[in-house]
Amino acid sequence: EIHFFFPRQNTLALIKPNSAQEHKAEILEEIKSKGFAIKNQQEKYLSEEVAEEFYKEHKDKPFFSQLVQFICSGPCLQLVLSKENAVEDWRMMMGPTDPNRAKEVSPDSLRARFGSDILHNAVHGSSSVEQSDREIRLLFGDLSAAVTSTEGEEDGF
Ligand code: TYD
Repeated sequence: EIHFFFPRQNTLALIKPNSAQEHKAEILEEIKSKGFAIKNQQEKYLSEEVAEEFYKEHKDKPFFSQLVQFICSGPCLQLVLSKENAVEDWRMMMGPTDPNRAKEVSPDSLRARFGSDILHNAVHGSSSVEQSDREIRLLFGDLSAAVTSTEGEEDGF
């Protein structure tokens, strides 16, 4: 018998402003039903300074200023999610960056259901464990404090 083992990971998820916020309760239920523990959550406006740092890998892209403007346009629900293989599993739940593509290839995904265009795409998820650590530190201030909460934990290790 072969057991495939994925290490437990944290990932940083954002429910972006506007339409996605209207579906917050439904999205949170879905997150929990997929086996994620919500280790931390806060609902906040991102400052422009924090948003620019958050998306700094895109600072030379033509969409950068629109992206920062949008992410700062209302409160964001910021979540630290934890489960085995969390980074990839949360990105699977989100679907592709462009909601129009998501509707074709992954119609059940959050971006297919709640996004309207590539800029207003409802949700964010870290692209790696390293990015997740960086993003959690940036938004929650202290990495270890943000990930040691045990609220919603199913297992004891
Ligand atoms: P990216 O990191 O490429 O995608 P993802 O969020 O799926 O990891 O892009 C970051 C955000 O920038 C994306 O969620 C929406 C925005 N964006 C645009 O507005 N236009 C674009 O052409 C791209 C690629 C991204």
